Amino acid sequence: EDPALLEAFEARVAADEFIEPKDWMPEAYRRTLVRQISQHAHSEIVGMLPEGNWLTRAPSLRRKAVLLAKVQDEGGHGLYLYCAAETLGTSREQMIEALHSGKAKYSTIFNYPTLTWADIGAIGWLVDGAAIMNQVPLQRTSYGPYARAMVRVCKEESFHQRQGYEIMIAMANGTPEQKAMAQDALNRWWWPSLMMFGPSDENSPNTAQSMRWRIKRDTNDELRQKFVDITVPQAEFLGLTVPDPDLVWNEAKGGYDFGEVDWEEFYAVVRGEGPAAKERMEARRKAWDDGAWVREAALAHEAKRAARAAA
Ligand code: ACO
Repeated sequence: EDPALLEAFEARVAADEFIEPKDWMPEAYRRTLVRQISQHAHSEIVGMLPEGNWLTRAPSLRRKAVLLAKVQDEGGHGLYLYCAAETLGTSREQMIEALHSGKAKYSTIFNYPTLTWADIGAIGWLVDGAAIMNQVPLQRTSYGPYARAMVRVCKEESFHQRQGYEIMIAMANGTPEQKAMAQDALNRWWWPSLMMFGPSDENSPNTAQSMRWRIKRDTNDELRQKFVDITVPQAEFLGLTVPDPDLVWNEAKGGYDFGEVDWEEFYAVVRGEGPAAKERMEARRKAWDDGAWVREAALAHEAKRAARAAA
């Protein structure tokens, strides 16, 4: 790579300029972005499945309409993100193939099952809350199309977070059985939510370079800490207990000290051994196969249109 081009690129990144699709960029920067953006897109799409599980069983028409809108938003986020990745020279087919063959990752969080309606509350509150914590800084990521996609995504994620927290408020102030369901959902979703931020900084192979390129604006541990600090008072407001005996306010650092994530579980889920991993991938592959006729019809339509235009 031409050192002068590299130097100019690094100066632009250091000046907080956006890098755009036709600009020169180092190959490793391009590869990192394709990896992160495509994995992010896959997470949005696979993330529709655990909540989709409750669409037919939402407890009222209002809850059903809200959940349906939310799940559709996630599909939209996936599509923006695939488009952002495509500006880097990869194709939708390549990305989907990488997901279906197990080469590309998607967030560990979507490999856990949604057992009760309270899980839908906990997902909106905790999972979308963690997503916002991670994605608000990405509005200032150095790659323009990714940063711009994050603006709308974050607005919609805040709505998702509120719909989840509203469900939690209703459950936590409901019957003793409902409150117990809310507590059980918190117990099961707390630690997997902390895992969404990725390995600890010392074990994160990509963080240092991604911070230098300003692809990431905060480290995994910084975001995890912020998430804990914001979320614990929300649990207190609900009258629920965060399932961490080591959680304690640390006045000196102005934040909570908290227990260690079970990293063995994290890496097992990353390897594809999560409780619902097989089911998720089967659902995605089936959707792709079942949708083949739509793709074929769209291509045939486009070919006819082009032939008519040429005639
Ligand atoms: N689930 C699955 N894989 C993970 C997770 C996780 N929670 N955390 C880290 N990993 C993977 C990384 O993708 C990386 O693997 P790879 O090199 O094969 O890609 C490996 O573990 C090491 O992690 P890091 O060095 O920390 O990787 P990275 O710098 O990419 O940081 C992070 C991971 C924080 C997830 C980053 O990619 C990111 O911010 N992505 C954008 C946000 C996103 O994808 N959110 C998805 C969930 S939110 C939602 O969709 C609603």
